[in-house]
Amino acid sequence: MTGKENAQRMEKIVSLCKRRGFIFQSSEIYGGLNGVWDYGPLGTELKNNLKQYWWQVMVRERDDVVGLDGAILTHPAVLKASGHVDTFTDPMVDCRTCKARLRADQLAEKNGVRQCPNCGGKDLTGARPFNLMFQTQMGASADPASIAYLRPETAQSIFVQFKNVLDVSRKKLPFGIAQIGKAFRNEINPRNFTFRSREFEQMELEYFCRPEQGMDLLAYWLKERIRFYEEIGISRKRLHVLDVPEKERAFYSKGTFDIEYEFPFGRQELEGVAYRTDYDLRQHIKASGKSLDYFDDETKERFVPHVVEPSAGVDRTVLALICDAYDEDSAPDEKGKMETRVVMRFHPRMAPIKCAIFPLLRNKEALVAKAREVQALLRPHMNVFYDEGGAIGRRYRRQDEIGTPFGVTIDFETLGEKGEELRDTVTLRDRDSMKQERVAIKDLPQLISSKIR
Ligand code: GAP
Repeated sequence: MTGKENAQRMEKIVSLCKRRGFIFQSSEIYGGLNGVWDYGPLGTELKNNLKQYWWQVMVRERDDVVGLDGAILTHPAVLKASGHVDTFTDPMVDCRTCKARLRADQLAEKNGVRQCPNCGGKDLTGARPFNLMFQTQMGASADPASIAYLRPETAQSIFVQFKNVLDVSRKKLPFGIAQIGKAFRNEINPRNFTFRSREFEQMELEYFCRPEQGMDLLAYWLKERIRFYEEIGISRKRLHVLDVPEKERAFYSKGTFDIEYEFPFGRQELEGVAYRTDYDLRQHIKASGKSLDYFDDETKERFVPHVVEPSAGVDRTVLALICDAYDEDSAPDEKGKMETRVVMRFHPRMAPIKCAIFPLLRNKEALVAKAREVQALLRPHMNVFYDEGGAIGRRYRRQDEIGTPFGVTIDFETLGEKGEELRDTVTLRDRDSMKQERVAIKDLPQLISSKIR
């Protein structure tokens, strides 16, 4: 695809997200809050499906991982020890012409001269560090002792609670602590829709191990995480692994892989898988004076565990799911004429709505009653949507556009009007092939459930 085609594709995706209720600009009626987004009814379902699946495979299906739900408000001492207060910065420059604040490392150059991407001006200040953390005040007094931060990553509460979790869970190394939650960064230049936001969610695992296990576990978690993206339906050919060179890694990291996705706006990071050694625990031991070490019952050794961290962004993965799913093909309209069909090819596991239920006609009481029965039958098993408005073809299109993988139509056969053998059967339509098969209502829960797990 050319740059122009990619830009058009992204425009269509952003417009669909708003039109169908996946993602809205936050505070839109007041002009919008830059870098902040609200998820609409469908976006919320999609995001929840992603988070639940991550929790399922990373925590519930494993003996060696437990969960944590840490606070967002963070003691400044935690972030001082982790290095965020002093070094969590991006280089910033100001444009003296249009007053825009810009990230120094993202400036375009023309004939070797830095240019403002906003106004084209060349009168820019020198770069200076800008701390990305949001600071707030706790309690009524406004003195420096009342400063707290909104956490810039979920990881730090895991390190700080390492000993408590170890004591209550009685896990042996290697074991992990997982967390899903909000993080906040005052990005200088939020952009590419939700890709770089100021408020976002992370899904992080800190997997603690013996020092000699670190490199093998780094390779293990990279493989596991790639598998995860495939299991949620992201095409492998659009996923890439960047082995981050030593000079670009954090000084304490012995190895970092970025899992990248080919967005329409370019190849960008979805997740980092990093071997962080014992840096974080050691920093907190030093700063708090508390012991955060591990005693190995078998070898009688006491040591500070090392950690491998797969850290993924919820919002970036949702955006990758949406970009990957967006497709256009052609399908016949009501009169049999071919028209363009927009279809979101979500994996059924991720799709916001799993099955739509359509009575063939809205003014036929028996059809509507039966359709409501099917809705009640399926509801305990999955998220369903009932729609009786408009021609059936239009109703299919509306569901294709939001990626509903299955559609059930209740027709006169269902009522037994075309032969007793067809009573209590419905048509089950597949979103991708658009093929329909006739199935018994009683078989629907099992049939559809087996495809959405
Ligand atoms: N604990 C490690 C850590 O926070 P990171 O690479 O800074 O590492 C991890 O962030 C992931 O969080 C990223 O790969 C990305 O998916 C997500 N993320 C980071 N900054 C983000 C932002 N401004 N907007 C949306 N997602 C972001």
